[in-house]
Amino acid sequence: MKIVIIGSGYVGLSLATLLARSGYQTVCLDVDKRKVDIINSGKSHFFEIGLDYLVSQGINTGNLTATTDYQTAMKDANIAFLCVGTPTTETGALNLSFIYDSVNQASKYAKDGIIYVQRSTVPVGTGAKAINLIKENHPKLRFHYLSSPEFLREGSAVIDSIFQDRVVLGGDIENDENAIVKVLAIFEKIDSLKHEVIHEIPDIAKFADAYLGNSGAKTSNGTPFKDKCQVTKLESAELIKIVSNAFLSLKISYANMISNLCDKVGADINEVMKGVGADNRIGRAFLYAGLGFGGGCFPKDVKGLINSLAEYDVDSDILNAVMEINNNQVNIAVEKVKKLTKGSIGKIGVLGTAFKQGTSDTRESQSIKLIKKLADLGYSVSIFDPQAKEETEVDLEKYPSVVFEENIEEIFKDSIAVVIATDWPEFKLLDFEHLSKLMKENNIVDARNFIDKTILKKYFNYSGMGVS
Ligand code: UGA
Repeated sequence: MKIVIIGSGYVGLSLATLLARSGYQTVCLDVDKRKVDIINSGKSHFFEIGLDYLVSQGINTGNLTATTDYQTAMKDANIAFLCVGTPTTETGALNLSFIYDSVNQASKYAKDGIIYVQRSTVPVGTGAKAINLIKENHPKLRFHYLSSPEFLREGSAVIDSIFQDRVVLGGDIENDENAIVKVLAIFEKIDSLKHEVIHEIPDIAKFADAYLGNSGAKTSNGTPFKDKCQVTKLESAELIKIVSNAFLSLKISYANMISNLCDKVGADINEVMKGVGADNRIGRAFLYAGLGFGGGCFPKDVKGLINSLAEYDVDSDILNAVMEINNNQVNIAVEKVKKLTKGSIGKIGVLGTAFKQGTSDTRESQSIKLIKKLADLGYSVSIFDPQAKEETEVDLEKYPSVVFEENIEEIFKDSIAVVIATDWPEFKLLDFEHLSKLMKENNIVDARNFIDKTILKKYFNYSGMGVS
């Protein structure tokens, strides 16, 4: 069976490598020649644990190739997964042109019976529009169009792609039955890889626990594969993904709102949410307060759902509040810096620029927003991230005064405050006693409530987010 993956970002490349590993002839199709060349050289074009290993294995076995050419990729293909980006436009709506363009291009060369599987996160109704577009432009082509949203997290993309909590597949249950069976069989094959791949990739075996860390309990529960599968209508599958992301964002903003109350009344948000999350109906995951959510998914998906609700005249107030609370968390962290430093202006160190640990991605990073605010207020800002230097430098192009340091000691040296802005596991291992001695004034804001406060309080004037 030949499978084409259109779009080689986090979603596409993780899936492609696992399909290649499962023995399928897999072709990554991407318009970006740089990315294609890197994949063909046996590497990933972004940092994601385990991915370099799997790309290299796929290229070496010959099961994985990459190309920019639709004709080469689509020749004799049985299935094409649509994993292209859906960036936000200026108005907040999603730009879906990559989906429509790619399916239109692919259909020029597709053979009869081709199965398209929409994997990108899209607003409800996108699949129906894509189907109409193919019918209009390629009236002779027989095809199936399914939606199977991806639920992986960046930083654990490979692990999440193997350990799937659920497999959702939407389509026209009567007409697409055979196609649905074929696609489910592919996901089952990936599911069956789990134990061998996890133990085989040293990076994953070693760090899996640490990297899954603070951001949520997402583990395989040993459920048999067929019990994880849910076959739905096309529109329901599209909604399941975006509604899940918006709900997780809502949980985070809820925790952040309560953390701001904790600050005022002297309660501790971690104690509160531990108690609240102990109720199985609520759960502890995604109730970690801090600087707020960022990345290529949550902000975009909340805004995307707000747009769909507006389009169909359904009230979206609850989601507008989610975004407002999230935006304000950066201001709250800045206020904490000002309070600890008693209004004096000097050097501030910021640890972490990626939107979360385990990734070099800085899209919509709350840390980058914080750094810009601090620089605008006149502080001289020194920053460090273990993976995201390149991305950060692009983001801060217009902030030449912000210095990216290679050495964590430089972040603390002569600073009047340090902010922990990303929950990288290695920050937990720092020698805070030594680092505090390098500072001009030893103030620290743990904006991710990530490091044990009893350790930090020993060496610093400390402030957390809803933790005192
Ligand atoms: C998210 C979802 O978790 C995935 O299930 C989904 O597939 C993915 O989006 C997607 O749509 O592709 P991701 O954006 O990689 O994954 O990252 P998360 O681990 O969910 O974290 C998102 C943000 O929320 C991060 O900035 C993180 O620091 C923050 N967060 C998370 C909190 O502030 N508190 C929490 O309790 C959890």
